[in-house]
Amino acid sequence: EKGGYPDFMLKEIHEQPRVIRDTLAGRLVDGHLAIDELDLSPEELNLIDRVYVIACGTSYHAGLIAKNLIEGWARIPCEVEVASEFRYRNPIITPSTLVVAVSQSGETADTLAAVRDARVKGAKVFGITNVVGSPLARESDGVIYTKANKEIAVASTKSFLGQVVSLTLLALLLAQAKGKLKTNQVRLLFHELADTAEQVEHILADTTAIDEAARACKDAKSALFVGRGMGAAISYEGALKLKEISYLHAEAYPAGEMKHGPIALIDEGFPVIAVATKSPVYDKLVSNIQEAKARGAMVVAVATEGDEDIRAHADHVIYIPKVRDAFSAITASVPLQLFARAIAVERNCDVDQPRNLAKSVTVE
Ligand code: F6R
Repeated sequence: EKGGYPDFMLKEIHEQPRVIRDTLAGRLVDGHLAIDELDLSPEELNLIDRVYVIACGTSYHAGLIAKNLIEGWARIPCEVEVASEFRYRNPIITPSTLVVAVSQSGETADTLAAVRDARVKGAKVFGITNVVGSPLARESDGVIYTKANKEIAVASTKSFLGQVVSLTLLALLLAQAKGKLKTNQVRLLFHELADTAEQVEHILADTTAIDEAARACKDAKSALFVGRGMGAAISYEGALKLKEISYLHAEAYPAGEMKHGPIALIDEGFPVIAVATKSPVYDKLVSNIQEAKARGAMVVAVATEGDEDIRAHADHVIYIPKVRDAFSAITASVPLQLFARAIAVERNCDVDQPRNLAKSVTVE
């Protein structure tokens, strides 16, 4: 069942290149994006003037990544909110609002309640789910399936990557409908997106640096994940993975917020995990790392291959292939999944079945 892997989580992490390929299969036809199941004409898509992404947990983090893409490419205001908050406030919803509900299981109670509420208020609802025929799929106006196949480990990995890839397709579709990206730009981006499958394979092929960093952090009481831009969104997911499977307290902050509070936590040997891939805010991030290092932090940096300078600021460097910043969540999330798992294994935790957690949360 585990296909030779010691646990389902590791097996599922290794399935991710396949998930990327399957999620993209058939999506570019004669050079055009094909997401026909959404059943909205380009004219209808063009009318959308506000997007809410609603979800819980890891799926919410996929939404944080999508916000960067939807606003960056399509220039549509996009808010991301946990479903349990969205459903109990009075969000501004009109018929030109698109609600994108993201749920691996498609049966999370809060997410479904938010979807029902949004539809009553007149929003169009797109579901992104891994389970064919799930309540979310049935209750949405259109659905994109993530093609992760059944996920057994409680901690979500491959379905998260499937969500990020699906949301990236949706962002491209919206950008094209809004006239913000031309067909040839969309095509180029699509091919680069498809290339991430190979880049993830490359990351999976050698985990030496990840395992070393994990051994160095395994006895910590707490850890801080930081990043900027896409890196901030990736950090939230990195921290969640670590705390849920290893019980090591972790939290994530946009790196620029460190000096507004969390830097007080840092003393000798405190682990700071930084998503430090090349991006428009790389230099800003490096100065945040330096501030942490100056206070004794043990810095683990996820960095872009070829970036030798980062070594001067980090105790451990995990190199990943260079990709466009828009796709960095797909690559940079993978070493953080492996890092969390390696720490959980070092701490003798049940990687697949963390205490107190259930795979799907069908009650509020
Ligand atoms: C974390 C995890 C949970 C789920 C959350 C939402 O690894 O698995 O945080 O992401 O419970 O579940 P779905 O996506 O099924 O709605």
